[in-house]
Amino acid sequence: MLIGKPSDIPSSEITSKEQYDRYFNRRRFLRSAVSGAVAAGAAALGAERLAEVISPSIGALAGTKLQTVKSPLTTSGEELTSLKDLTNYNNFYEFGVDKGQPVMNAGALPTRPWTLRVEGLVKKPKTFDIDTLLSMRPLEDRVYRHRCVEAWSMVIPWVGYSLSELINAFDPLPSAKYVQFLSYFDKKVEKWWSESTILWPYSEGLRMDEAMHPLTLLTFGLYGEVLPNQNGAPVRVVIPWKYGFKSAKSIVAIRFLDKQPSTSWNQQSEREYGFYSNVNPNVDHPRWSQKTERRIGQPFYAQRRTTLMFNGYGEQVASLYNGMDLKKNF
Ligand code: MTE
Repeated sequence: MLIGKPSDIPSSEITSKEQYDRYFNRRRFLRSAVSGAVAAGAAALGAERLAEVISPSIGALAGTKLQTVKSPLTTSGEELTSLKDLTNYNNFYEFGVDKGQPVMNAGALPTRPWTLRVEGLVKKPKTFDIDTLLSMRPLEDRVYRHRCVEAWSMVIPWVGYSLSELINAFDPLPSAKYVQFLSYFDKKVEKWWSESTILWPYSEGLRMDEAMHPLTLLTFGLYGEVLPNQNGAPVRVVIPWKYGFKSAKSIVAIRFLDKQPSTSWNQQSEREYGFYSNVNPNVDHPRWSQKTERRIGQPFYAQRRTTLMFNGYGEQVASLYNGMDLKKNF
């Protein structure tokens, strides 16, 4: 996000053949170490699935199947972004500022054991083990459009359940007006942290009603499998009507607050990254237009798409902002 203009590098050029081979081998090793059954299943799938298996989904548990149910909140009709593109073209600055770095570096993230603290202005603060969180509610398959502030987009089949289902279990105090998400941060593991001037740990936030909106997803997987590390394992949030940077990865704390939390990108540059960050084709980024977007995975010469207000989720979320000046509150 610190680059001078939206990146137009074809994603196919980002990861070299050597990197693929290296990570395919690594993944094979990890899979056999962690889950023999999953590895055997993948081997049985043959050449067709092999193309997907070669996609470097990094992480000891990445690729493990999750049991899911269909969701009424899914978006349909658009071609899904391939697993290969989803796992090779990432923003995860703790593991490097280039899109091709997280796939090479995020294997270092220790996703088990993992705990998530629910704290702040809440009647029953609690620390959860990730596996308890995973089994608390049925996991839903939800295809969402994903629009990055850098003017590219994807269509991603996430797996998770509405964050509101977790929040409801905690009785936040009436004084809780905002929710802050804090990502895992360990300089020894995320050695690339100093490549950017973000104030760590990565922090994002939502207004309480945004956090409670059923579309806001506590996310554990994609393509029916455990999240690859580079996509924010073992748990992240996804807010489909906002620019991608609101969707904090690898979260370790959810904090209820009475004031708007400071957030990493807003701290970085207040005039470029507002707190709300709703996808809005009518409010340009100071350095580029937000009217159109490039769909990752489509040929470089393909026509750019028109960006939709609230990323196409206006019917569901526009009422959250009734009466607000969205140019001021960008
Ligand atoms: N979360 C953390 N902890 N660190 C990051 O650098 N990048 C954000 C967001 N969450 C980021 C993060 C940005 S800019 C985007 S576009 C999305 O993650 C990218 O998610 P993806 O790699 O799954 O597409």
